[in-house]
Amino acid sequence: MPLGTGEAGGKAILFGEHFVLHGSPAIALPVSSRCVRVSLSANGSQGLSYDGPAEGRVVTLAMLTHLGLEHVRISLAGDLPLAAGLGSSAALAVAIVRATGVSDPDEVRVAAHQLEQIAHGRASGIDDAVISYGTPLLFRPDAPPGARFIKLAFPAPPFWVAWVPRICSTKESVARVATMAAAEPTRFGALVAATTRIVSEGEGALRSGGHAQVGRLMNEAQAILDEIGVVVDSHRKLCELGMRAGALGAKTTGAGGGGAVMFLGPAEMELDRVLAAAGFGHSFFAGEPH
Ligand code: PMV
Repeated sequence: MPLGTGEAGGKAILFGEHFVLHGSPAIALPVSSRCVRVSLSANGSQGLSYDGPAEGRVVTLAMLTHLGLEHVRISLAGDLPLAAGLGSSAALAVAIVRATGVSDPDEVRVAAHQLEQIAHGRASGIDDAVISYGTPLLFRPDAPPGARFIKLAFPAPPFWVAWVPRICSTKESVARVATMAAAEPTRFGALVAATTRIVSEGEGALRSGGHAQVGRLMNEAQAILDEIGVVVDSHRKLCELGMRAGALGAKTTGAGGGGAVMFLGPAEMELDRVLAAAGFGHSFFAGEPH
């Protein structure tokens, strides 16, 4: 017997990944053109059953158990790349919460955040928020709870996403960065401060439609992510190719160690052709054409 269905898009962090767990604000954009879809049905005495890609199994079953749903079959489908830095675990959490009948975006976010902690161990909350609200978001981790998420009232800039397989999980990547933060507090503190400034300048540039400036800030953010060790060689190559194809800026998005790169660039940019010629596949246009 069907119990419910739920769908959720992905997200791309424009500025502030990792540093958001160390006090910096961050800006994230919804990736609405791709989604995770779940359907729940009653499974009687057979307990929990999972039908979907192998890499989603453990976390999906853990989320259902956390919700006390122990006699359901869940089917997972959709076209959002999994484990690529595009918020698939948060999307899964949001889709499951929606499938249970919750629709108020604030309630969805709070419930999804609890589920997301299962996948990440220590999640900032920015993924759940941008996916629940489906709108560009400024996240201030140090603000009081009611004022942490500021919905940015402009459409997401035109951006592209490409990705490569990941060599480490979000949890591992977050733990490595935390080790660096503890070992080199002065150096790390300077990077948090630089990211805080990039977020603030980035917000201004986004509000005024200054995309060339946003692109420059993305490149600056990428150099900082490289300093904390989350950028892999294939990402350096992807960024270089993207800039050659006409992007205004390019950076790793999400936890890194592989996964997704985002490019700010027009819809007509020949990114697919340039990446394919260099042996990379998988890119898609994720933002609103301007
Ligand atoms: O790679 P993803 O999509 O899981 O994004 C993780 C973003 C981090 O800033 C590294 C962690 C977080 O919870 O904000």
